[in-house]
Amino acid sequence: MTVTAFWLAGRQATGETSFDVTSPWDGRTVGSVSVPTDEQVEEAVAAAHAVLDEFAATPAHVRAAALDHVVKRLTERTEEIAQLISAENGKPIKWARGEVGRAVSVFRFAAEEARRFNGGEAQRLDTDGGGQGRLALTRRFPKGVVLGIAPFNFPLNLCAHKVAPAIAAGVPIILKPAPATPLSGLILGELLAETELPAGSWSVLPVANDKMPALVQDERLPVISFTGSEQVGYAIMESVPHKHCTLELGGNGAAVVLGDWASDEDLDWAATRIATFSNYQGGQSCISVQRVVADAAVYDRLLPKIVAAVEAQVTGDPSDPATEVGPLVSEDAAKRVESWVDEAVEAGATLRTGGKREGASYAPTVLTDLPDSVTLATEEVFGPVLSVARVEGEAAAFAAVNASKYGLQAGVFTHDLQTAFRAHRALEVGGVIIGDVPSYRADQMPYGGAKRSGTGREGVRWAMDDYTYERVLVLTGLAL
Ligand code: SIN
Repeated sequence: MTVTAFWLAGRQATGETSFDVTSPWDGRTVGSVSVPTDEQVEEAVAAAHAVLDEFAATPAHVRAAALDHVVKRLTERTEEIAQLISAENGKPIKWARGEVGRAVSVFRFAAEEARRFNGGEAQRLDTDGGGQGRLALTRRFPKGVVLGIAPFNFPLNLCAHKVAPAIAAGVPIILKPAPATPLSGLILGELLAETELPAGSWSVLPVANDKMPALVQDERLPVISFTGSEQVGYAIMESVPHKHCTLELGGNGAAVVLGDWASDEDLDWAATRIATFSNYQGGQSCISVQRVVADAAVYDRLLPKIVAAVEAQVTGDPSDPATEVGPLVSEDAAKRVESWVDEAVEAGATLRTGGKREGASYAPTVLTDLPDSVTLATEEVFGPVLSVARVEGEAAAFAAVNASKYGLQAGVFTHDLQTAFRAHRALEVGGVIIGDVPSYRADQMPYGGAKRSGTGREGVRWAMDDYTYERVLVLTGLAL
């Protein structure tokens, strides 16, 4: 098998060692990836640091054209890239195709933002006597080179969310894809290499995890954009408190179904959305539905509909277009999910469906009567497991959502606009989705968490703000 090269300062390179990427579905080798040496990592960082000024000054049309090129090439290569995502991650092909479509959108939004960015904002200062004849112009400049660390669960699109805003803002980036799924991030390198972006402005380096602490400490990388687990995210931030860290971490997404969401049609829709989005990509999304909080007025009718909809999920081979739920990323991941469910059932939870593991696959699972003390109630399961709780009224429902250390997104099924505004005010999360599950994410909107779900925001424009800072230019002696 040929070894896939990495991308060092915009050119292909290989190191001295490589590792295999295997399919979590059938264990076959999907590819072999070259690992950069310490010297090559140093070369990439030095090149990114050296190109900072040049890249910030690269005209918007050049950066936008590069982003447009990626849009075009991702679109042309959609099927091939979707197959690759599905093979290395185990994600069903229908979701993998959707992921490529989202990455296309991310690069398209970035191309649009690149053309708008830094238009400059003028502010007259003669509103006070001391500012007579003065005008302030505000533009944004890079904080420095970004170190982007991407997770396995959206191996293409979450790399896109790191890289595309960096290019749009003219900020160099070193991207580290996840060890389990590096091939999708490396494909982005192939497409970027076809553009005219300056050498050094981007690198894609599958650096081994044990080498990351040194890279995180590197003072030439003052911005870290990390997506992954709560434990690793906060360990990074605590190790470099002086750096700017964006952390997109875990969640245990709640879907609230209130008493006014009560017609058969309403409950069918809620049950279908809940079943789909507690299980999509094996529940391995930070905003998958892990908890349903249902008002007592609808609970008894909703629960059987959820169980039926979960049982209707098509499980199996991720390459089959009919498959909705494939394997988890590894057998170890499935074993961890199994142990959490077993713990919950032993502690008194009622298993309504699922609860079985086969290799890396875990059956879509529904629990009720989940004790507050068990791991499933407090941590992010990152697996196809859902619990349903009965509450009395809106206030109790919102309190149940907030009774979590996480706060990424929440969904609220209600028809009442006043309730929607109260939810927006009350829920301690980064996003409230009305009439749908918490798993809705549009790639142009701000996305990120409250509490232990992280800090900072992604979503192209917000990431561009995160990578840059405002610098004011005061002009004096003007005839305003
Ligand atoms: C995540 O798992 O944090 C990303 C979810 C998404 O992009 O849909």
